[in-house]
Amino acid sequence: MRVRYVWIPVLIAVISVPIGFYYVDWSKSGDGAGLYSRSWQPEAVFAYWNPEDFYVSVDSVIGEFSGEQCIDCHQGVTPGIVNDWRKSRHSKPADDQNAVYCSDCHGSNHEDLHLPSPEICGGCHADQHNQFVDEKRYGFPSHALAMERALDAKHFADKPKAEVTACLQCHSVATKCDSCHTRHLFSAAEARRPEACLTCHSGPPHPDDETYFNSKHGELYLAEGENWDWSKPLRKGNYPAPTCAYCHMDEGKHQVANKSIWKFGIKQINPLTSGNEVKRKQWIKLCADCHEKDWSADRLKEMDAERKTAWNKLYRAEDILKSLRSDNLIYPSAKERPPYPTDSADDLIQYEHVGFFEGQASAFYNVSAIERDYFEMWYFDNLAAYKGSAHGDISFANKGHAAMDSSLEKIKHKAEKIRTLGKAEKNEARKNNGHQEHPGKLWFNGEYTEYNRDHN
Ligand code: HEC
Ligand code: HEC
Ligand code: HEC
Ligand code: HEC
Ligand code: HEC
Ligand code: HEC
Ligand code: HEC
Ligand code: HEC
Repeated sequence: MRVRYVWIPVLIAVISVPIGFYYVDWSKSGDGAGLYSRSWQPEAVFAYWNPEDFYVSVDSVIGEFSGEQCIDCHQGVTPGIVNDWRKSRHSKPADDQNAVYCSDCHGSNHEDLHLPSPEICGGCHADQHNQFVDEKRYGFPSHALAMERALDAKHFADKPKAEVTACLQCHSVATKCDSCHTRHLFSAAEARRPEACLTCHSGPPHPDDETYFNSKHGELYLAEGENWDWSKPLRKGNYPAPTCAYCHMDEGKHQVANKSIWKFGIKQINPLTSGNEVKRKQWIKLCADCHEKDWSADRLKEMDAERKTAWNKLYRAEDILKSLRSDNLIYPSAKERPPYPTDSADDLIQYEHVGFFEGQASAFYNVSAIERDYFEMWYFDNLAAYKGSAHGDISFANKGHAAMDSSLEKIKHKAEKIRTLGKAEKNEARKNNGHQEHPGKLWFNGEYTEYNRDHN
């Protein structure tokens, strides 16, 4: 290669890197937040869920106030808040520490109030804040990355606002510290109980509540929990059976991501990598607070075996879909339905996304019936089976597998029917000099699609 040609890729890189950065900056500079900020408008309530991006102070009360003055006036304006604060450790900390007033978290200038981000709590609680930020090293899922994860999910920007507003309520676990110890009591004891997690960790696709309460651990909590001393930290010997936080925030660490082997359960991973062996040891050490080590290791092996079986089933369904796709039998095909509004790549190369690696996480809607069957098998049946086996609720795991089996049968039957119909259609077309009916743009201009384009 002549020397001057070497400059061509260098030149392309020199031009495209800044363009790339510029593009990302531009896409984040809309009224919303995250990668698709230009495609949607924030709701008023987002100011509370994601204050860093959206909160603007009230300006109806003017002046700078001392902590005592905040209390005096708010005793009348918001008595519930003041009462909770009075009961909290912030109003009467141990030893000779200063009380933590309203102004320490919200500021003193009433025209420039803020709602405290994790950084503000971290100013006094550096350990908890640092552990929380450290979750980012482990990627998703994690609490620290939860807001980004929701905002940058394509369906968050694609769907009508009414269907996605609630996403940010749960995913606000990243942007404020009052998810588990609620304001303004900020009680550690409250956060140790399983109920603290259940506002968010329940229902499909994450049935943590059902599976925990059906497990031996959850049964013990339900039978005896009211007599446990919740003022004790979550340490070996303090609790007869574990709660969510006992297992996932062991030793009180504000870090839920460092032990996660199978993560959310939405893709197959190799459970035996050296990184995962480190996590496995941590789990076994934790179970060994109450159980025998080898016994605990066997429980984790059972989970791996359950996952392997689940993925065998899922791959069989994916193969069926991929073979229909290569025979052009998915109806309506990706070309015949409106692309996801935010997915510019989909405008160029339209194809049906099958499975995790092709990006089907966005395929909650706008797909053919058989693709939706697979989605439900993968996202609901499979994730239920995972949580059943992770939390020791065998009957839930079995139910998840029974549901996967019947989904797989359904997909097989539907595929056979589609193939038969497809053949008949081709024969018909042959008779009509090759002319085959297609829906054309029929699906493009539905009421839902139009509304969605205009109301994000
Ligand atoms: C003279 C009475 C008074 C004093 C003193 C006062 N507040 Fe308020 N505060 C109010 C009223 C009234 C509202 C409701 C304002 C509104 O909704 O427009 C309010 C609202 C708030 C809000 C909610 C803002 C929102 O956007 O929802 C916060 C937070 C707050 N005050 C914190 C403080 C802090 C911190 C101090 C002390 C530095 C303080 N207040 C002192 C009367 C007072
Ligand atoms: C330890 C920090 C902290 C202290 C101290 C504190 N707050 Fe808050 N406050 C918060 C957090 C966190 C939120 C929730 C913010 C959000 O939703 O984004 C909040 C929200 C609020 C809100 C708006 C939401 C609601 O629940 O109505 C008001 C009003 C408020 N605080 C008033 C007060 C007053 C008055 C005091 C003093 C008695 C006080 N706060 C003390 C952390 C604190
Ligand atoms: C100005 C410093 C300061 C800020 C800001 C602050 N705290 Fe605290 N926090 C304290 C002190 C002091 C204590 C009492 C510690 C003690 O008694 O030893 C405390 C105690 C706590 C406790 C333990 C309560 C218990 O039941 O044992 C929790 C939980 C807590 N804070 C959460 C928060 C959260 C969440 C935020 C932000 C919304 C926050 N704090 C902001 C100083 C602060
Ligand atoms: C306000 C909602 C909310 C509360 C309360 C909450 N979480 Fe979460 N949690 C989430 C969200 C959202 C995610 C997924 C974040 C993402 O998309 O990456 C998550 C993820 C997790 C994960 C997965 C981490 C991983 O790496 O696989 C664990 C474990 C977890 N939470 C445990 C808990 C426990 C234990 C509690 C209670 C002590 C709790 N959570 C309370 C919203 C919450
Ligand atoms: C009821 C609370 C709740 C609501 C509402 C919610 N999520 Fe989540 N989300 C969670 C929890 C909890 C997890 C983590 C589950 C786990 O690790 O088992 C999670 C995981 C995720 C993940 C990571 C897994 C993946 O598929 O990549 C994404 C992305 C996500 N949510 C996006 C959204 C979007 C977008 C919405 C709104 C359409 C939404 N969530 C609504 C609680 C919620
Ligand atoms: C997923 C739930 C959850 C979230 C989110 C959460 N905490 Fe906690 N927090 C807990 C639990 C559980 C405990 C009790 C830990 C123990 O028993 O050792 C606790 C205890 C604390 C304590 C008291 C520690 C002690 O030793 O007395 C402080 C301070 C605290 N949290 C601050 C924070 C701060 C700051 C944030 C935001 C960065 C935060 N928390 C977010 C669950 C949570
Ligand atoms: C006995 C300990 C234990 C208890 C109690 C427990 N879990 Fe789990 N949880 C696990 C194990 C083990 C896994 C599988 C982890 C893996 O794949 O590495 C898991 C998986 C999870 C996951 C998937 C993400 C991850 O870390 O892999 C979430 C989210 C979760 N649990 C939340 C909860 C919630 C919420 C509760 C309470 C309702 C709870 N757990 C109770 C042990 C526990
Ligand atoms: C704080 C103590 C404690 C911790 C930690 C703990 N367990 Fe348990 N576990 C118990 C108790 C108590 C029982 C009920 C024993 C009985 O039925 O007599 C139990 C029961 C079980 C059972 C049901 C056994 C049966 O015979 O039905 C399984 C499975 C289980 N634990 C798995 C685990 C795993 C896996 C871990 C770690 C991820 C773990 N446990 C962590 C206390 C604990």
